[in-house]
Amino acid sequence: MPESNKEKIYGYDEELWYRVLRSQYWSGDRDVKEIDRLLRRLSPGKEILDLGCGTGRISNRLATTGYSVTGIDLSRRCIDEARKIAEGLGVSGSVTYIVGDYRDLVPISGKKFDAALCILAPAWKSTEEFASIFRNLAQHMNDNGILIVRETLKERFLASLYAAPSVQNWFRIDGDMLSLHTWDYDPLESKVKTKKEFYGRLGNNFEFITRIEQEYRLHSFSEYAEALGSAGWDLEEVVVDGVDILKPAIYNDPWWLYSALMAARVRRGGT
Ligand SMILES: C[S@@+](CC[C@H](N)C(=O)[O-])C[C@H]1O[C@@H](n2cnc3c(N)ncnc32)[C@H](O)[C@@H]1O
Repeated sequence: MPESNKEKIYGYDEELWYRVLRSQYWSGDRDVKEIDRLLRRLSPGKEILDLGCGTGRISNRLATTGYSVTGIDLSRRCIDEARKIAEGLGVSGSVTYIVGDYRDLVPISGKKFDAALCILAPAWKSTEEFASIFRNLAQHMNDNGILIVRETLKERFLASLYAAPSVQNWFRIDGDMLSLHTWDYDPLESKVKTKKEFYGRLGNNFEFITRIEQEYRLHSFSEYAEALGSAGWDLEEVVVDGVDILKPAIYNDPWWLYSALMAARVRRGGT
């Protein structure tokens, strides 16, 4: 896998991407709780592969609870930070971090994995590309291995939109970063257009950093289910989360509402 990456990440400069992910590291406790519950219920082992691991928000936390984790990410900056955090937590011996593209997955030190995670880290534009990535992944899994994907689902997005149109405009403050989000939906094309503005804290104020506009197609749950099936995975569980009004508003950001966790098991000895 390539050890350097000059590409932009989802249209962001790598340095900004790193700042955004670093500022959101705190939110991992919430996500890991559900993932750990799924792993305990469904997974036969402790060897985890984290596809698009970012700064190790999930990987490092899982390592502190006894898992052995291999994390892959395009961003060297994020991987360096993930390693640093692992060191600080005293779990360097339980994590392996690799700079690379998970679409080109090759055997990693001859390892096979009990579970693979892909948490809000899409590297596909179509469900055909999605199926091709996870068909390849299946070869790197132990028998009974599971895959956990958290992704935005069209149904979840539409339901949020109908329940509260204000979810199209939202903001979040994570440490020293403020981001303003506007999501527009085109129902004919099933496309969302997102506009995000980023501001960095400057004393008591925030200073504008950049604006990023993106457009992508939202896939439905049934499209993902079909793609997983065609790639050799059997869907076992889908977890959706609601608003928890006892938690600070930041826990209820729209990403949480738009997405779902899908858990599937690798199919062996058949189609
Ligand atoms: C929104 S972040 C999520 C990071 C992490 N999964 C988490 O939940 O904190 C998505 C990450 O996926 C990575 N990514 C996207 N496409 C990738 C690819 N093809 N190969 C490796 N990493 C990828 C990006 O670099 C980014 O750090």
